[in-house]
Amino acid sequence: LFARESEFVKGVVAMSGLPDADRIEVCFAGRSNVGKSSLINALTGTKGLARASNTPGRTQEINYFTQGPDLYLVDLPGYGYANAPLAVVEKWQRLLKQYLSGRQTLRRAFVLIDSRHGVKKVDEEIMKLLDSSAVTFQCVMTKADKVKAAERQKVIDQVRAALSKHPAAYPEIVLTSSEKGDGVATLRAIINGLREE
Ligand code: GTP
Ligand code: MG
Repeated sequence: LFARESEFVKGVVAMSGLPDADRIEVCFAGRSNVGKSSLINALTGTKGLARASNTPGRTQEINYFTQGPDLYLVDLPGYGYANAPLAVVEKWQRLLKQYLSGRQTLRRAFVLIDSRHGVKKVDEEIMKLLDSSAVTFQCVMTKADKVKAAERQKVIDQVRAALSKHPAAYPEIVLTSSEKGDGVATLRAIINGLREE
């Protein structure tokens, strides 16, 4: 199913700019630099589709990508970027709240967590927002290639404990590496499952 083509649609900075809600969508949230854009590139098999960079806070807009004719993949701006000006952070939080609570076609949010770092305070805040918006979310661990198995298990345990506090959390955690391709097929299957609902 993911053999179908993906294309960039548009970058959105206000609710009024969202594309028509004519199909379902899934979004990718996470701290700056966690690997959201890289994961979208890996999922779609299109290297330069979502930009990926070393500079945190690079993706400033809500970026929409098609995945075939019936699904949008939505790359959200990274949060928790320490150097972002307060005005920018507040504008972004407002938009995020509006988006999560107001987008009828949003089927699931993937909250990306760095396999080295686990759930941080800013991630907890997003999870609370997802709870209150009644958006089911699922944790995706990124950069699995950067940690050894023993270390990884500790972080997964920490993530599982954090998820247990959130009613909107889907219990299954997906371990991925966009670099090596681990978990990418699993995540595609999960997204395809939502597509058929
Ligand atoms: P913002 O748009 O700034 O919020 O960042 P992002 O979450 O989109 O992260 P991005 O995909 O740009 O990746 C950030 C950095 O992490 C880049 O240098 C990527 O090459 C690197 N990276 C992403 N995924 C992986 C992975 O699975 N393994 C490794 N080793 N590096 C990764
Ligand atoms: Mg990005």
